[in-house]
This record gives sequence, structure tokens and C-alpha cells, in this order.
Amino acid sequence: MSGRWKVEELNVGGVHEATFYPNPVADSGFRFRATHLDGKRAPKVVLCNDERIPPGTPCQVRITVMTRPDRTDRGVVEVELVKALPFRLEGVWLDPIVSKKLQILLESGLNVLLDGPQGCGKTVIAKAIAKALGLEFVFFNCAAVVEATDFLATVQVRASSTGAPVTDFVKTDFLAALERASTEPHRRFLVFLDELNRCQETARNVLMPALDASRRVYNPITNGFLPIPDNVQFIAAVNRGSEFSGTFGIDAAQLDRFAPIHMSYPPPSEEVKLLSNRHPEVQKKLVETVVAVADKVRMSPELSSGLSVRATDEVCIVLKHPLMEGNERALLAEVLKSSFCGRFPGRPEDPGSDAGIVWAIVEAALSES
Ligand SMILES: Nc1ncnc2c1ncn2[C@@H]1O[C@H](COP(=O)(O)OP(=O)(O)OP(=O)(O)O)[C@@H](O)[C@H]1O
Ligand SMILES: [Mg+2]
Repeated sequence: MSGRWKVEELNVGGVHEATFYPNPVADSGFRFRATHLDGKRAPKVVLCNDERIPPGTPCQVRITVMTRPDRTDRGVVEVELVKALPFRLEGVWLDPIVSKKLQILLESGLNVLLDGPQGCGKTVIAKAIAKALGLEFVFFNCAAVVEATDFLATVQVRASSTGAPVTDFVKTDFLAALERASTEPHRRFLVFLDELNRCQETARNVLMPALDASRRVYNPITNGFLPIPDNVQFIAAVNRGSEFSGTFGIDAAQLDRFAPIHMSYPPPSEEVKLLSNRHPEVQKKLVETVVAVADKVRMSPELSSGLSVRATDEVCIVLKHPLMEGNERALLAEVLKSSFCGRFPGRPEDPGSDAGIVWAIVEAALSES
């Protein structure tokens, strides 16, 4: 819904939905401010001082006071909290129970570890959470970290005017965000530590005090400790394939600093909805077939890695291309061979290889359908 409320349409006692953020006017006596009610622009700023308000998450509120109802350019709408509502993630699928747990963990300021097979949506979901909660999303790829200092700075060597080598420290996005968080306390930052299990354990250790109550991290540029302000939240992601070996190389003390959230692929009906929304040009029946085959591949106990939603998405992109017109179903087997089997080691013709196992699943599923 969009548009604007007229002052006379709002009444004391009226119940509406609003999303609050910290009030930038520090001395107003109200901690939180919103600009919209039920998705429509409010005629005056909406204020609430209830400390239970979860910033960035929709809430149901009741109007308690409307000052200067005679004016549209003055006055405020004061509200009280009725209840917090679940956040809504747009364009992604997340199990509703997991979504609620995630919301509670984030509201409580806990670090979250998303653990799930490749391409099940860890990154898109973290981004969608940042958007839903009004947080600035800071992506950090831990797989590129070799030395502990790489989290905060990269070292670049250049020639000085005399020709002697000079070492410069260049801030990473992570460090830049921590610094901005200190100077811009009204903004909130979500630092996404992707592929946390892919960096050296010794390097990861530098993050330990950032993730516990110490809330500080060593800054190699200043050779001192940088405090991590409260307006910084961490979500990390790990990918342990589908073998669920029980370990992904992060030691117990590091793991203990995160609240774990286990994710899996969307159920087939939800994946069909996602793909059909993105690719309305592809017949729904065909999307259902693609997802059903992917589901069989994912369920196979013989394969050691998953089959991402990227793969099913890629198949739809190929199938809807004008070059495929009229031939979609006929070419489906070939498209699945390259997009599904091609993601696994070996060759489709070799039944002993992972690619061969996937090809056997594809052929069997297509002949059934
Ligand atoms: N739950 C989901 N909801 C919506 N889209 C999804 C979901 N899961 C996967 N996708 C789609 O698949 C693509 C891959 O998702 P994403 O990069 O978030 O996966 P990932 O779990 O972070 O993968 P990786 O382990 O490889 O980092 C996304 O671009 C998105 O299009
Ligand atoms: Mg990812």
C-alpha cells in the first residue's frame, strides 16, 4: 500500500502497523521514530518510547496522543506498542520457524551462524534480513583471508619517490564499517562473514574477541584494539556440503560464539513458486519437473555435495531463452545434463562418478514424468 494519511483519518486508539528506527533527534524524549503507518506515509512523525520496540521490525502500535491535529506541518503522533510482528523477507524463502528464531536471535544481539548446503540461500537471506531490518549490509568473504590481519586491512607495497618500497595498509570493508558504526551510531550494520570455515583457523582467532563480550578487535593499522559498537551485528555462513560429517573445521570455542541456524533447500513447492515468479515464461509444469529432479538429486545418499537453487534457476534461464522456443521439453534432458551433472565431479557417461549418478537420477526421473 502506498499514499498518505490525512490527519483527520487517524484517531487516538487506532491500531496500525509501523516500523521504527532509532530517533535521530536525541533530545526529543522518544527513542524510536517511524514515518509510515500501515505502509502509508503518516501526516506527522510517529514516535514511541517503548524500549521493547525492535528497530527495523514491523510492530503493531496504538495511537495514544496526536498533538496539533489542526495542523499538518506541526505536531507528532505518539503511539504505544501493542506487539512486535514477524519480519517479512522479500523474494526469498525461509522456513517460518527458522525465520522467527532468527528474528529473536538478532533482536537479542546474538551472532548467528547460518549452516547449510551450497546454494540454499544463506547469502540472499542475510541480504534480505539486512533490508527487512534497515541494516547496512557489509559482505566479507572469509575465504580470501590468509593472515589474521586480512580481516581488517590488506597490505599493498608500492615504490616511494626514492624508489624504496613502501607498505600501505588498505582498510577492508569490514574495518570501514566498524569505523562508520562508531561515528554513525544511528545506523545499524550487518556484517556478513561468508565462508567462515574456509579461512585459516589462526586467522579466525583474531575474530574471537569481536564475537564475545569483549567486543573488540585488533587493528593492525593503529596497532591497537578497535571496539565493536552495539550497532554492529554479525551473521556468518558455513557450507559443509550435504555429507553432514558433523564438522566443518571451526573449533568448539569459535562455534560457541554463534547461535547456530541450520538451513536446507526450500521444499519443492516453495522452490517452484520462487522459480515461477522469476521465470513466468517457463511453463509451470516444466518448472515442477526441474525441481522434482533436483529434489531427487539432493536426496541421494551417494552424493557428497548438494545441488544449489542456482542450478535450478540456471535451467529456467536456459529453457526460457528464445533459442529454446518450442523445444523446451525435448531439450530438458540435455539442459539438465549440463546444468546438473556438470556441477559434480566425473562424467555423466561414467556411472561410477558423481556426475554419472546424477545422470542416472535425471534419466529415471524424466522417464517417470
Ligand atoms: N531460500 C532461497 N530463497 C530464494 N532464493 C534462493 C534461496 N536459496 C537459493 N536461492 C537462489 O539461489 C542463488 C544462490 O543462493 P545463495 O548465494 O544465497 O546461496 P548460499 O547458500 O549462500 O550458497 P553458497 O554456499 O554457495 O555460498 C541465489 O542467487 C538465489 O537466486
Ligand atoms: Mg553464499
